[in-house]
Amino acid sequence: MWRSRSVNTFLNICIVTGFILLVYYAFLTQDSINHRKHLRRIVRKDTQNIGVLTSFPRKTKEYNIWLVFTKVTNVSTLSYKFRDLIHNLLNVSSVPLKFNIIVDKVSQGIAENQIADVLYGNKTIVYSFYDIEESAKKIQDIVEVMTPHFSSKPGTYYSDALFYISLGLYRIAPQNQDFAILLDCDLYFKKDIALLFNQFSNFKPSALFGLAPELTPVYRHILHMYKAKHNTTFGDFYHDSNILSKSIHPRGFQGYNSGVVLINLRAQRNSTEFLEIISNSTVQRMTAKYRFRGHLGDQDFYTLVGNEYPHLIQTINCKFNRQLCTWWRDHGYSNIFENYFKCNGDIVVLHGNCNTRIPK
Ligand SMILES: *[C@@H]1O[C@H](CO)[C@@H](O)[C@H](O)[C@H]1NC(C)=O
Ligand SMILES: *[C@@H]1O[C@H](CO)[C@@H](O)[C@H](O)[C@H]1NC(C)=O
Ligand SMILES: *[C@@H]1O[C@H](CO)[C@@H](O)[C@H](O)[C@H]1NC(C)=O
Ligand SMILES: *[C@@H]1O[C@H](CO)[C@@H](O)[C@H](O)[C@H]1NC(C)=O
Ligand SMILES: *[C@@H]1O[C@H](CO)[C@@H](O)[C@H](O)[C@H]1NC(C)=O
Ligand SMILES: *[C@@H]1O[C@H](CO)[C@@H](O)[C@H](O)[C@H]1NC(C)=O
Repeated sequence: MWRSRSVNTFLNICIVTGFILLVYYAFLTQDSINHRKHLRRIVRKDTQNIGVLTSFPRKTKEYNIWLVFTKVTNVSTLSYKFRDLIHNLLNVSSVPLKFNIIVDKVSQGIAENQIADVLYGNKTIVYSFYDIEESAKKIQDIVEVMTPHFSSKPGTYYSDALFYISLGLYRIAPQNQDFAILLDCDLYFKKDIALLFNQFSNFKPSALFGLAPELTPVYRHILHMYKAKHNTTFGDFYHDSNILSKSIHPRGFQGYNSGVVLINLRAQRNSTEFLEIISNSTVQRMTAKYRFRGHLGDQDFYTLVGNEYPHLIQTINCKFNRQLCTWWRDHGYSNIFENYFKCNGDIVVLHGNCNTRIPK
């Protein structure tokens, strides 16, 4: 009796527990189906809108801006440009930005002062500092391969690295950063920087970088020996004003400017092809083929890659990096300069390169 009641109780408990488990499981499954549905719905929406699955932003909270701020003294113009740019970005941004700033010890102190300067009222700013020497170590191999071809004169240990940060940023940035935008300090945003982040969703699936065209004939100049012997449109201006049309370089390729660099860090970390492209043998081969000797750092490299491996770079519209430097107009190219310099459209970013004053 005692035994049978006990067995009954035990059975009851089993049944009840089983029922609870069943209900729980049913809900769980339903829940996970709903969850998957939800995910599918999002993915489908992305596909319809932009045609790629890896759309930005997957993690909507992260809008990572990268700046390099080194070798600064309190009185240097870079210091004011930096402050103005941060002020400007906070002013025009509709999204919460995270500033990632590569500094040396002295410059960090100045950066902190400049940041404090632009914070008024209850404005807040999220930022992190990264040490330039540590960063330089992480990309040393890249720098050694690139400097002989793309630097005007070899400098000190880390000053060379400054010109190639964008190529190795995937090693410097925290692993959880998927997308980054590296900016020069001589920029002025006329419109919301969210417009620039949105460009990630226009990336072709194979693109690691997004760059706007160089708006001077500098690459025509550098490529003149190659162009004299080869029938090529490399270095010619974009005849087609719609450079975002289907074909990659419809007619003419001016090269790229690296004042604004969009980087898909996630894709880059996963790309074995990229490691091949930055290898000494590839860089040797490309520079020899085009008899290329540059002095503009990473953008020289991007220009060659843009011609040799165009699937790796997404050309973004010139309105996202409207350069203002007219130096080449006065140095032998006055007759064709305007063809390169023209940039129609609603400008988002002005770039006061070669110390050109930005009309605001
Ligand atoms: C720069 O100026 C600020 C305030 O004007 C001062 O506190 C700071 O020590 C200066 N930094 C350097 C490196 O001179
Ligand atoms: C802030 O942005 C507005 C337009 O969005 C502009 O009119 C104003 O001049 C900007 N202020 C500063 C300090 O940049
Ligand atoms: C910051 O200031 C603005 C207006 O000055 C106000 O509307 C807002 O509530 C403030 N935010 C916080 C977190 O105090
Ligand atoms: C790259 O290759 C060239 C030619 O073979 C060689 O002279 C140079 O030292 C190499 N550079 C690096 C960084 O390996
Ligand atoms: C150069 O190439 C283009 C297109 O491939 C061709 O139409 C043109 O005739 C060529 N010009 C010369 C001089 O070979
Ligand atoms: C990483 O690359 C491999 C092969 O190149 C590919 O199959 C995989 O989907 C990639 N993963 C991501 C997250 O892009």
